[in-house]
Amino acid sequence: MAYEPKLLGILCHWCSYSASDAAGAARLSVPANLRTMRVMCTGRVDPTLVIQALQRGADGVLICGCHLGDCHYNSGNQRALGRFHLLSRLLADLGLEPDRVRLEWVSAGESERYAELAHHMTKRLRNLGPFQWPTLDTATTEVIRNG
Ligand code: FES
Repeated sequence: MAYEPKLLGILCHWCSYSASDAAGAARLSVPANLRTMRVMCTGRVDPTLVIQALQRGADGVLICGCHLGDCHYNSGNQRALGRFHLLSRLLADLGLEPDRVRLEWVSAGESERYAELAHHMTKRLRNLGPFQWPTLDTATTEVIRNG
């Protein structure tokens, strides 16, 4: 049986979650391997949440929020962008593929774009293969486990 990656979508309630809903209502093709989690704002997405998702079996994470300038909490998505850059560097430093995590802006009216992103991310994960922790030294492992 061919490898099918597990993808977690973390979606902002106000925009991307609505896009996801609209994609379903319009019967757009969305990968079956995608599971979604709704958050009120991408500014709520702590990098440890992403690491925990990878720890618990996800092969990748797609974070989607309101376009810059449209965040319902003013600057939540700008904070998310800053955290995303830090997270990417952290993943690379840990020997993990930063491409497993992606941040995108998807408004409520962009259901087709949402579906395309989910397919694109799934294809990317298929190419990367199953997520595996690199061999880490004991101290680094403890830091990850304990947050
Ligand atoms: Fe959507 Fe902040 S409310 S990203």
